[in-house]
Amino acid sequence: MSRKLIAGNWKMNGSLAANQALVRELLAGLGGTAPCDVAVCPPAAYLAQLQSLLAAAPTVALGAQDVSEHVGGAYTGNVSAAMLRDFGVRYGIVGHSERRQYQHESDIQVGRKAERLLEAGITPIVCVGETLVEREQGLTEFVVTRQLAAAIHFNRARLDDIVVAYEPVWAIGTGQTATPEQAQQVHALLRAQLEAAGAAPGSVRILYGGSMNAGNAAALLAEPDIGGGLIGGAALKAADFLKIIEAAA
Ligand code: 13P
Repeated sequence: MSRKLIAGNWKMNGSLAANQALVRELLAGLGGTAPCDVAVCPPAAYLAQLQSLLAAAPTVALGAQDVSEHVGGAYTGNVSAAMLRDFGVRYGIVGHSERRQYQHESDIQVGRKAERLLEAGITPIVCVGETLVEREQGLTEFVVTRQLAAAIHFNRARLDDIVVAYEPVWAIGTGQTATPEQAQQVHALLRAQLEAAGAAPGSVRILYGGSMNAGNAAALLAEPDIGGGLIGGAALKAADFLKIIEAAA
């Protein structure tokens, strides 16, 4: 079993001053070591700041929240995978439900974004997850496997190099976490899909995201197919994020 990965998705939060304080507290708490892989994903505007703040802290990797599905050129406002690489980015979130919802990103775009990241040597964190209505209609399996199938289609030869995150939309920012059993059920399904497509057994880390916090992390992370967490709100408080990291030991 590989080391767990705890990644903080800061979403559109932070400032130069707040980021500096958060990273200082985080690094002080870790004391130079981490019991699992750790990443922080700030807004793109702060990647240069975070690269510099983390320069002397190899235990915390830098991640991005999104990337363009294009290599480069006339795409105003977009950031390419090669640009992320320039700032030392090691992980890139793609297909977060907030981007699928507000930017209308399609499964195909998400698959291409993951492909661009892999080309640039960055590990994609491919997010999948169903809405509450979809869950209530019994469509969870259909939705998450459809979303993952697109990522598999564009990255079939590199499946062992991706990370997947199961983030039920109804659990994001709501305080309503999936139970460990609910999450494990979906994680096992996603793992079977990855392995049927050629991923080596147990190789892909599948993170859980959605109201994971200091109190519920240990139970979720104890499930056999939960390989870490993608943390939103609780990643903005160093003390909470540190407790989740400890729970992933
Ligand atoms: P919360 O932890 O705030 O529910 O957010 C989860 C998430 O969307 C991480 O990408």
